[in-house]
Amino acid sequence: MKIGVPKEIKIGETRVSMTPSLCRRCVALGATVMVEKSAGIVAGFRDDEYRAAGAILTASAKKVWATSELILKVKEPLPAEYGLLREGQTLFTYLHLAAGAELAKVLLHKKILGIAYETVEGTDGSFPLLKPMSQIAGRLSIQIGAYFLQSQHGGSGVLLGGIPGTMPGHVVVVGAGNSGAHAVQMAAGLGARVTVLDLDTRKLEALDSEYRGRIVTLMSNPANIEHEVADADLLIGAVLIPAAKAPIVVSKKMVARMRPGSVIVDIAIDQGGCIESIRPTSHEQPVYKEHGVIHYAVPNMPALVGRTSTLGLTQATEPFVAMLVQKGVPRALAEYRGLAKGVNTRDGKITYDAVAKALGYA
Ligand SMILES: NC(=O)c1ccc[n+]([C@@H]2O[C@H](COP(=O)([O-])OP(=O)(O)OC[C@H]3O[C@@H](n4cnc5c(N)ncnc54)[C@H](O)[C@@H]3O)[C@@H](O)[C@H]2O)c1
Repeated sequence: MKIGVPKEIKIGETRVSMTPSLCRRCVALGATVMVEKSAGIVAGFRDDEYRAAGAILTASAKKVWATSELILKVKEPLPAEYGLLREGQTLFTYLHLAAGAELAKVLLHKKILGIAYETVEGTDGSFPLLKPMSQIAGRLSIQIGAYFLQSQHGGSGVLLGGIPGTMPGHVVVVGAGNSGAHAVQMAAGLGARVTVLDLDTRKLEALDSEYRGRIVTLMSNPANIEHEVADADLLIGAVLIPAAKAPIVVSKKMVARMRPGSVIVDIAIDQGGCIESIRPTSHEQPVYKEHGVIHYAVPNMPALVGRTSTLGLTQATEPFVAMLVQKGVPRALAEYRGLAKGVNTRDGKITYDAVAKALGYA
């Protein structure tokens, strides 16, 4: 099996899809690994470490794409990479196709076997390759929100924890899954007032018993959302309907009623976002103001902490990469149902229902 590891080119991306340690394992299992020079450098992995782990290094991204059967990436291919994809190649990466109609067309046209990290399932039906990045994005969302709440950054000047005698900031988290729960943890740790809303009562019950009255849990319905959003200093969008376009849970009208200088971090932007006034931003230009409210919607937030994110991501992908190398792609997909659930495109067709529906193919 020839594996290619290109350097990520998305703005501000710092992660790499393979560490030297994972490279060593793949080589030991019989794979040939080609890594683009300096692919891991920002995450703290040097070229000589990959070389020592058995990788072939090249300065040419073209060569990596042209000679590999399996391309291992972090983010979805960007337009500059569309021409490099080879017909019939296997691509294992985050794809987020529900919000990527153009990319979907390319993958179908080139008959790419597209295995999306975000829909690979564990034996319990969870999403083990989405989880670590969601945890990181959830934790980051609070420190990012706290930063943009500062007066010098255009924010309302609220300190989330307050001080004795002042009201702490109010953090409202919509979605109590992996990213939401980690946002709650950081916000509560800072001493903010925290309200979390979800449709799933089990998620609310778990947080309620963990925090024992320290946070407020609410059913996600329009009345509760409207009421809480109007009082939020920091609003976190953290909902997910697996592989589907994110539902809009906060309307523009609700955003318009927030206090000026309040902050929205819509983590769900990679699936289109769950706030009506949101549009994707980038690490170069992470925020814009609408209705006087700061909007942050970077689809690759974990790139802010490339080292931790690379380690978190690759410890989750390693067992699946090892399956692909050991068994070969067809057998690995036939034998491991959870890995097969990751297949979003195959032989020119969208094979994942929610993605097909979101893109109008079903
Ligand atoms: N921007 C980034 O850099 C980044 C990084 C990692 C993950 N993400 C994205 O964050 C999003 C959330 O991921 P996750 O792993 O936390 O998902 P998750 O499945 O663990 O949690 C999502 C939660 O949303 C809830 N939900 C669904 N509809 C809802 C509604 N109408 N109101 C309230 N809650 C609702 C679900 O019940 C669930 O508890 C995904 O889109 C994921 O791709 C973004």
